[in-house]
Amino acid sequence: MKLKQKLALGAGLMALSLSSAWAQGLEGKVIGFSQIGSESGWRAAETSVTKAEAEKRGVDLKFADAQQKQENQIKAIRGFIAQGVDAILVAPVVATGWEEVLTEAKEANIPVVLLDRGIEAPQELYLTSVASDQVKEGRVAAEWLVGAVGEATCNVVELQGTVGSSPAINRKQGFEDGIAGHANITISRSQTGDFTRAKGKEVMEGFLKAEGGGAGICAVYAHNDDMAVGAIQAIKDAGLKPGTDIKVVSIDAVPDIFAAMVAGEANATVELTPNMAGPAFDALDAYLNAGTVPEKFIITESKLYTPADDPQGEYDRRKGLGY
Ligand code: AHR
Repeated sequence: MKLKQKLALGAGLMALSLSSAWAQGLEGKVIGFSQIGSESGWRAAETSVTKAEAEKRGVDLKFADAQQKQENQIKAIRGFIAQGVDAILVAPVVATGWEEVLTEAKEANIPVVLLDRGIEAPQELYLTSVASDQVKEGRVAAEWLVGAVGEATCNVVELQGTVGSSPAINRKQGFEDGIAGHANITISRSQTGDFTRAKGKEVMEGFLKAEGGGAGICAVYAHNDDMAVGAIQAIKDAGLKPGTDIKVVSIDAVPDIFAAMVAGEANATVELTPNMAGPAFDALDAYLNAGTVPEKFIITESKLYTPADDPQGEYDRRKGLGY
C-alpha cells in the first residue's frame, strides 16, 4: 500500500474511532452540579431541565443546592473533586472569588462548565460557559422601552438582581447603554431585589412611597420576571394599574409573566432559556469522549416577548417545564 493510501486509511480509521467514541455519550459518567438555590421560577426550571437532561443521557448527576451562598458552592465543588467526578457544572452565584477552587479542579483534571452566569477569573480555569449575553438582554429591554415611550418623559425604577452577580452587573449595563442618547428616559431609583418575588415587592413598595405613591414612576425595569411579578403586586396594592399606569419590563420569560401579560399587567420580557444543561452536556460529551475542546462561550438566544406574541400560548407551552 502506498504511503498516501496508508495515510488516508489511517485518517479514516481515526475519524471512525473518534466518532464512535463521541457516540458513547455520557452514560455512566458522574457529574457534579453546584446550583445557586431556588430564588426564582427560572432557577427552578433550570434545575428540573438539568436533572431531566442528565437522566435522558444516563448521567449520574450529583446535585448540590447552595442556598444562595458562595461558600456552600465552594464546599460542594471541593466535595465533587474529592469524589473524583468526571466533570462539574456550576452556576456561580457571584462573579468573583472562584480562582482558588477552580484551580483545584483543574489540577485534578476535572473539566468545569459554567452555567448561566459568568465569572471574573482566567478563562483556562473552565472548559466552557453556557450563558446568555446578559448585556444584550438589558439592551433589548431598554430598546423596547425607548420604542414604547417615544419622546415622553419617563422615570424608570430598577430592580437589580443579586449584588455582585454577573446578570445584575451586565443587565444594568445593557439597559443603561440602551437608554443612552434618550435624555427623556432616566433611571431615578435602583436597588437590589435579589432576584426574588418577595424582595421585588418590598423594594417596589419603597419606590412607590418615595415617588409620590407612584405618580413619579413611568416604568419598572426588573432584572428578572420574579421581581417584576412582586412589583406588579406592589403597584396593584398602591391602587395603580401595572402595565398601564406603570410599564413593566423584565427578563426570563417565565409562565407567570405571560399570565401577567394576559391580564394586561406586564408589557415585555426577554427570554432566557432554562436549558443550559443540554449544550453543556453536548460539550462535555465531545470533550470527554473525543477530546474536542468547545467554544469558550456558548451563547443562548435573547428574544423579546410582548403581549403581541400570544402570551396565553407562551404560558401554556412553558407551564409544564418545571418553573
Ligand atoms: O442567572 C440567571 C438569573 O438568575 C435569572 O434571570 C434569574 O431569574 C435567576 O435567579
